[in-house]
Amino acid sequence: MNVTDTLSQEHQFILQYVTLMQHYADFAERYPESILLLQQAPRFIKFIEEFADQFHHAKEEEHLFRFMAEPSVLTHCNPLPQMLAEHGQARAFVSDMHEALASKQVNKLAVAVKGYAQLLKEHIFKEDNILYPMAERGMSDAQKAALLQAYAETEQKHDSAAIWAHYHALQAELEQTLTQTINTVD
Ligand SMILES: [Fe+2]
Ligand SMILES: [Fe+2]
Repeated sequence: MNVTDTLSQEHQFILQYVTLMQHYADFAERYPESILLLQQAPRFIKFIEEFADQFHHAKEEEHLFRFMAEPSVLTHCNPLPQMLAEHGQARAFVSDMHEALASKQVNKLAVAVKGYAQLLKEHIFKEDNILYPMAERGMSDAQKAALLQAYAETEQKHDSAAIWAHYHALQAELEQTLTQTINTVD
């Protein structure tokens, strides 16, 4: 029984958005007079806040990390404080994005987007390759069953199917908007 498969699938989706955000930030740096990033960033930010933070990070913080903190799960080292600190750094980048948007500073926005993207790539790599295998190895079957039940409650609360469908559609729109804009300037 695996308790991190769904979280890893969410990572793959978050990484797709992160790459797309980076492409928008690259475009903004190349064409600083373009308002594309300022126009579209609120949609990325909504994805980050709703999917990456309230949905994914909440499942980690409220459930996975809580179970991993139980005695005997982690035997060698405890990476949980570092993971929580990185969630905090991610939230700080998001408030930088809000500030940059409010003051319409494209450059500041691009820097925050790229900082967030880099942080998340490294964070996800650590979770997929270090933290999640520790959870799979260290948790008992009873703990895993209880954890899966806890995830199911969060997914029900957030209407997970609707969230996935909404953000898949938005991803396609954002990709199309970027391609169309690039085609008009090249
Ligand atoms: Fe995380
Ligand atoms: Fe994660």
